[in-house]
Amino acid sequence: MIAASGTFGYGVEFAELVDLNRLGGLVVKGLSREPMEGAPPPRLCETPGGMLNAIGLQNIGVRAFVAETLPKLCRLLHVGADGFATAVVANVFGYRVEDYVEVIRVLEDAEGLTAYELNISCPNTNRGGLEYGTDPVATGEVVSAARRAAVHRPLWVKLSPNVTDITVIARAAEQAGADALTVANTWVGMAVDIETRRSRLARLTGGLSGPAIKPLNLRLVYQVAQAVRVPVLGVGGIQKPEDVVEYLLVGAHAVQVGTAHFVDPRASVQLVKGLENLCFRRSINRIRDLRGSLLPKSVD
Ligand SMILES: Cc1cc2nc3c(=O)[nH]c(=O)nc-3n(C[C@H](O)[C@H](O)[C@H](O)COP(=O)(O)O)c2cc1C
Repeated sequence: MIAASGTFGYGVEFAELVDLNRLGGLVVKGLSREPMEGAPPPRLCETPGGMLNAIGLQNIGVRAFVAETLPKLCRLLHVGADGFATAVVANVFGYRVEDYVEVIRVLEDAEGLTAYELNISCPNTNRGGLEYGTDPVATGEVVSAARRAAVHRPLWVKLSPNVTDITVIARAAEQAGADALTVANTWVGMAVDIETRRSRLARLTGGLSGPAIKPLNLRLVYQVAQAVRVPVLGVGGIQKPEDVVEYLLVGAHAVQVGTAHFVDPRASVQLVKGLENLCFRRSINRIRDLRGSLLPKSVD
């Protein structure tokens, strides 16, 4: 179980509430070259079965993360009896290819990270972000450049659902060197207050997340898992252990949990226990026996 970017802070904020060592991993809030204040409020609003956010990638900047926050986080984590430690994944964001490369360059010198997750799919910025994740050529450019910069660690690429055919972007990312694909980010949406006749978000549109998008993202994972050979991380609307199983059956290697933390900050840790119980009840001995069993059988 991996906590999804932007929904679990930098991990340290949750340490008093949950045992971070119970998680398979956590992806920190998207990091940019310079600190960012993000969008003006209101930045969140509840919608049926989900929520819209337009945070605007508020973050402390990659240098403060490396100098202050990452060392704190590392002190909270330890190798468990099973020989594994919670993986810390840095979500990387930029407006231009050079920004992504610079963020990775700074992270390369840091200790305690397991992988990078390239956010080429945030719907909440006025430039950059979304374009990369919606165009296969731009995806190839930014992923290739990030791949060259990321000498020390695996590179995950987080795809946008806001495209006509996600498999085209998924293949472009894989060919450019992605080691895994995260499927997917939030769906662009709106909510209107009929009293004020204005958007319920200062930035007009936002990203829809939560249970409302689970059927949509499940289908994307199903498509991407057949289109590429690299592992797929499923994310979108997971609340219950059964949701995790659904993602595994359509081909996800692992899952991330996001909006559920807004309901209960312990959500991802509780899902670990819930999944163990579900497997026990159903005599599932190995998670990998579930993986992709809904996919059409490959002929090679
Ligand atoms: C408030 C909020 C902030 C987010 N910030 C980021 C971010 O910085 N980088 C990123 O790649 N995804 C970000 N996401 C997207 C989530 O990581 C996840 O892909 C999405 O919310 C779908 O999963 P969920 O339905 O479980 O929340 C954010 C989502 C929310 C709700």
